[in-house]
Amino acid sequence: IAFTLGNGDLPKAILLAEDATAEIYLHGAHVTSFHRHGWGEMLWMSDESNFRTDRPIRGGVPICWPWFGQPQPELPQHGFARTSQWEVIETKTHADPSLEIALRLTDSEATRQLWPHPFELTMRVIVGRDLTMQLSCLNTGEEPLDAEAALHTYFHVQDIDAVRVAGLEGRSYIDKLDAMQVKPQAGELTIDREVDRIYLETPDAVTIHDGAERRIEIQKSGSLSTVVWNPWIDKSAAMADFPNDGYRTMVCVETTNAADDVRTIQPGEVHTITQSCRCEPATGPADP
Ligand code: BG6
Repeated sequence: IAFTLGNGDLPKAILLAEDATAEIYLHGAHVTSFHRHGWGEMLWMSDESNFRTDRPIRGGVPICWPWFGQPQPELPQHGFARTSQWEVIETKTHADPSLEIALRLTDSEATRQLWPHPFELTMRVIVGRDLTMQLSCLNTGEEPLDAEAALHTYFHVQDIDAVRVAGLEGRSYIDKLDAMQVKPQAGELTIDREVDRIYLETPDAVTIHDGAERRIEIQKSGSLSTVVWNPWIDKSAAMADFPNDGYRTMVCVETTNAADDVRTIQPGEVHTITQSCRCEPATGPADP
């Protein structure tokens, strides 16, 4: 594990594991790259992203916390974790052999102005054949706290027209583009327009079928909701930090605690949301 300065001179960690390479910015504890050897890049990054301490990075895995979306107009969209400076608290080498890094964010004067709760948030990133991310919130205060969360993962795909998201069939979703109406998901999800949905009561496994070459298996825990987002043409063009054709090679499938999946954490207790993702061949069984 090496530390260096990345884009915008922001500090980042580079994890060179036997099976994969990953990069994590301390700004936002933001994973910007995961490349399993032989499989190409798993995450999508905008080449027009900001790399500034006051802006979120566009692409990779922003951490939305302690809220998802924008509950009130004066609050920052998706919370403050993604624009905070985190500190590295631990690095480890496992026997399997994977590498692990842990980063921490605690409440400060600035966070208490936005959200009046003491907390200790830890992001663990384990880089091996899988990319595993664990976001844990310890309530260090004396009152219960309510928190939403998202591991807002931008997956790189070959061609959005050939993408199918499997595992959400039969679930209901809140359609953020249609007055928050709740609708059923009939079959596998394909994307041919702007999509912005919070799926409810979602299973622990979802698969992104990425054309003829590969699929991405996503496993989660501590989460009962999943967000799927693709901005499509107009929204891509409207976002300054997003390339106009970027929507063709990305899809966000986000492990979340959102909508009715907000978590109440009692004083002294911890809630952890975990997501593991892995590239596999398009057909055939998953690697054990
Ligand atoms: C998604 C939300 O998760 O994130 C969308 O559901 C939002 O509504 C998108 O547009 C991107 O958000 P941001 O703040 O990173 O532009």
